Amino acid sequence: LGKEIRYYPAITSTQESAHQWALAGAKEGSLVIADQQTTGRGRLGTSWVSPAGTGIWMSLILRPNALLKFASHFTLLAAVSVFEAIQSLSSYPIHIKWPNDLLINKKKVCGILTELKGEQDRVDYMVIGIGLNVKQNDQLPSHATSLEEAAGKQYIRAQVIAQILQRIELCYMEYVKEGFAPIRKRWEAGAQSFFGREVQAKTWNGVIKGIAEGLNDDGALIIRSEGEKRIIYSADIQMT
Ligand code: BTN
Repeated sequence: LGKEIRYYPAITSTQESAHQWALAGAKEGSLVIADQQTTGRGRLGTSWVSPAGTGIWMSLILRPNALLKFASHFTLLAAVSVFEAIQSLSSYPIHIKWPNDLLINKKKVCGILTELKGEQDRVDYMVIGIGLNVKQNDQLPSHATSLEEAAGKQYIRAQVIAQILQRIELCYMEYVKEGFAPIRKRWEAGAQSFFGREVQAKTWNGVIKGIAEGLNDDGALIIRSEGEKRIIYSADIQMT
């Protein structure tokens, strides 16, 4: 992964650029990186603050031979890869929050946005956008933090990027060979502090409150709410 790279000092969003490149035939593993994004995008229509030189803003193009219904496996695969990459840099108390937020001391340090284009029932290409706050800066929202604040030391972004790409590649190869089971196990290990907790899931058709129980085979979240199992495919989750 990352053998072909397009680097921009400033860009609207690396996601946008990666979509254009993918539509023009970019190979699997192609990567768009920017130093600054002027209109970085987050999940569920939010924006992503991406000031110059303070973080890793990148979008990776994958072309998995997969059915659309398994698309969320790749989101979780990306989350667990970045989780393990960050863990290998320092021993932070880092946790995964479903589906793909990484938190240090309950503050968000990394967000992942997976977008895709399908061709009938299969994935044509997928763009995995990773936003990782590396340096503390005053534009960060109060619920966010950075690697450097958490670790009290400095990082060279290129080294962190290399670590993340290596990890995604390993997990991706593992997925192709063994399927979702091992990824799911490791994701659940990273999300231990999330399971068993009371959560609120804001979905498109209302709020579901309950206890986060685990993931199902599709990578959807299982919440036990008023004695019933509810399966959540997409939502904004708050831990109460
Ligand atoms: C989230 O809401 O948690 C997802 C945030 C994803 C941000 C990254 S930064 C690189 C890529 N380009 C974007 O515009 N968004 C993603």
